[in-house]
Amino acid sequence: MSAVMDERYSRKVALRHERLYGHGYQGPGSEAVFDRLAARLDLRQGLSVLDVGSGLGGDCLRLAEKFGVAVVGLDAAPDMTGICLERYRNSPIKGVTFTTGDVRTTALLEPASFDVVWTRDCGAFWSEQEKADIWGRLHQALRPDGQVLITDYCKGPAESTEFDNIMDAWGQHMMLPSRYIEILTAAGFTDIVLSDRTEDLLNSMLEGRELLLTQKELFMQDLSSAEYDNLLDRWNKKIGFARDGLLVWTVLAARRP
Ligand SMILES: C[S@@+](CC[C@H](N)C(=O)[O-])C[C@H]1O[C@@H](n2cnc3c(N)ncnc32)[C@H](O)[C@@H]1O
Repeated sequence: MSAVMDERYSRKVALRHERLYGHGYQGPGSEAVFDRLAARLDLRQGLSVLDVGSGLGGDCLRLAEKFGVAVVGLDAAPDMTGICLERYRNSPIKGVTFTTGDVRTTALLEPASFDVVWTRDCGAFWSEQEKADIWGRLHQALRPDGQVLITDYCKGPAESTEFDNIMDAWGQHMMLPSRYIEILTAAGFTDIVLSDRTEDLLNSMLEGRELLLTQKELFMQDLSSAEYDNLLDRWNKKIGFARDGLLVWTVLAARRP
């Protein structure tokens, strides 16, 4: 992983962000958002799901609990899978395993080994070429009639040097949503449906900012003033970029024929 990702997905920083997004999440974590995403797929007992970039495992647990699917949560950050293994070792929810590994190199992607690839807010860390390679591999790893659900950060049509510079600093490779369709099509996927759900991102970010402001004293118990200010600044920047149409939260569903 890059130095930016090592820092962002260290235990300390990930747990800090989780307090703003919701338990088990590093992105919009409400049950209502999850339910709307899951409704885009045909999920049923017995299917096997690979969650790429599973983070703190919120979706893995919900997928297994609500649909009876078997889930493998794959994440490149050892702190993220480490937290999941500690938290869920004795969970009553069965059928979830967590593995540390990079989707670019993992041996998990045997041909035709999963029914569903689920991945949330992970792809912006990959360059366009990496996205193309990864979606080629993931296509092979799906069984025929396999399903895909993606949420990801994309860039809007507007241009802003400030936005480009900050995304670079955050290690994000932004592309237009339409480019995603081209990459998935080239990898062999069909039935691609793309939606702009920036509204869900904004609602989640606004709730997080409200918590930061109203519970400042609580946050300050384990943050320095500079860390608190940085976190608030990051939230304000993301909210501003989403409102200005620079940052788009994209949802894609697709199928392997
Ligand atoms: C924004 S977090 C999202 C986590 C989770 N999907 C969620 O929605 O809460 C992105 C996650 O993707 C993981 N990730 C990024 N690149 C990866 C890669 N190449 N292979 C596996 N995991 C990766 C990061 O370590 C991080 O946990």
